[in-house]
Amino acid sequence: MEDTILVPRGESCGGPALKLFNDNFIKSMKFKNLPKKYELIGKGSYSRIIISEEIGNDKVIKCIRKSSVQSNNRKYLINEIKIMKQINNDLIVKMFDLFQSEDSFNILLERGRLDLFVFSKNKPYSKKICNYIVRDLSISIEYIHSMSIYHRDIKSENIIIFNENEENYQFKLSDFGISVVDNDYGIGNCGSIGFNSPEMSNKIQFSRKKADYWAFGAVLLEQLIGQDRFVNEWLMLYYDRKHTKLSNLYDNALKIFKKEGFDFDWSILDNLLNIDPIQRHLPNNTKIINNFTNFLI
Ligand SMILES: Nc1ncnc2c1ncn2[C@@H]1O[C@H](COP(=O)(O)OP(=O)(O)OP(=O)(O)O)[C@@H](O)[C@H]1O
Ligand SMILES: [Mg+2]
Repeated sequence: MEDTILVPRGESCGGPALKLFNDNFIKSMKFKNLPKKYELIGKGSYSRIIISEEIGNDKVIKCIRKSSVQSNNRKYLINEIKIMKQINNDLIVKMFDLFQSEDSFNILLERGRLDLFVFSKNKPYSKKICNYIVRDLSISIEYIHSMSIYHRDIKSENIIIFNENEENYQFKLSDFGISVVDNDYGIGNCGSIGFNSPEMSNKIQFSRKKADYWAFGAVLLEQLIGQDRFVNEWLMLYYDRKHTKLSNLYDNALKIFKKEGFDFDWSILDNLLNIDPIQRHLPNNTKIINNFTNFLI
């Protein structure tokens, strides 16, 4: 399955492959009307996220326009659904049901409070939040990889916060809209700019697992340096690179950030944002969980 779906942040993937969306799949999906009264709480490139009293306030419906699927823009919908059906992990947003209505395919999901991007807007760096993210994403990413699922679009908009309460945050991985169940080897450039790893190119194979690790590192970096600097001093490097290799630009930027002495275990970022994919590793879960009380302070 191709990996060439790199998009500017805030957009979603595109590309032709209507053939994946076969008739049987559509025929077997039950029909049900969407709630009459609802409120819009989120928007993706091809979907709307709604809440309604009719479904209970612990759920949302992700509505994916049929026209977007049929105009070839949402070719991974089957993947998204297949993957959501397989997943059973407390740190990944759960799917409860699936149905179609006149204009949309609809996924009933557990409802979180808000996404990490919105949550951290204009908020100062918090070591505690970062450590929760490290704990939760290390587990969810390792879990999906153990099932040969590669997310391919890890970014703060796709991390949903649950139990927003000072003592008990959970950061759940969400939006498997461009994920694949496949082998580890990808070719192309995939994900969102700023979160896509530097080894991705249209010619050389890369590890999808290590690319997810890199994106996880970028999520943490954004927390550390803040959203404005993430855009101006990190994401812009992708566009500025001209003749310099992106990996060199990223490496230099990381050295500069590191010198700023953030109150954070930088070895985690050394491992996740390692320019060399072979040296790139997830934080050690056992150590994190055993030390979690100290770790959160
Ligand atoms: N379970 C949920 N609980 C609360 N808010 C949610 C939930 N799922 C999604 N959202 C909100 O809706 C937004 C869009 O959802 P999602 O990322 O699943 O859509 P998408 O169309 O696949 O997005 P993209 O543009 O990345 O393809 C999220 O960034 C988040 O703000
Ligand atoms: Mg999304």
